[in-house]
Amino acid sequence: MRPRSPALAGLLLFAGLVLNVPAAAQGDAKRGAYLAKAGGCVGCHTEERNGATPFAGGRALKTPFGTFYGPNITPHATAGIGAWKEHDFIRAMREGRRPDGAHYFPAFPYPSFTRIVDADLKDLFAFLRSLPPSSQASREHELPFPFGYRFLLWGWKWLFFSPGPFAPDPSRDARLNRGAYLVDALGHCGE
Ligand code: HEC
Repeated sequence: MRPRSPALAGLLLFAGLVLNVPAAAQGDAKRGAYLAKAGGCVGCHTEERNGATPFAGGRALKTPFGTFYGPNITPHATAGIGAWKEHDFIRAMREGRRPDGAHYFPAFPYPSFTRIVDADLKDLFAFLRSLPPSSQASREHELPFPFGYRFLLWGWKWLFFSPGPFAPDPSRDARLNRGAYLVDALGHCGE
């Protein structure tokens, strides 16, 4: 919509500045960088070799269920998550679901990341958006039968996964709650 008169344009600008509408909706990439460190994202999402592009994927995670590869999470439109909207990212982290609705394997520690509060998820997304896009293709996981079937994860999630953000314990002080949040939600120390 284009305002027809300069007065209306001025009024809209004034409303935007005073109400701070657009700023509130945008994540803070700098804070997101700090949260990404606390969450150890780079470790699983970067290949283990000298000169590897951070967050471009390829790190092998060997588990009893097979080998998982952290995917490319740079903002490349096809190789990474460049086509994602903020709500796609929030759903991936909170519900362990791909934009197409398929379930993620819990090798991606979303059972902990689900506790990350919305404001922090927005900052993390803003940080990932600020990275240089890498065209490096994500590798397929190597999972023996039947672990490769994502639909089976529905059962696992039903048994073991309880989504939802961290709720501070009112009987504890703010520092204890902050520590508990960092350990449980971002640090995925319990996994
Ligand atoms: C312990 C290893 C590990 C850590 C730590 C980790 N991830 Fe991942 N992540 C994975 C794996 C493995 C997948 C792929 C899961 C699948 O294919 O089902 C994944 C998938 C993703 C996806 C979906 C990508 C896509 O293309 O669908 C996003 C987004 C993501 N991770 C973001 C993050 C962020 C942000 C952090 C830090 C807060 C993080 N990850 C930390 C292992 C990890």
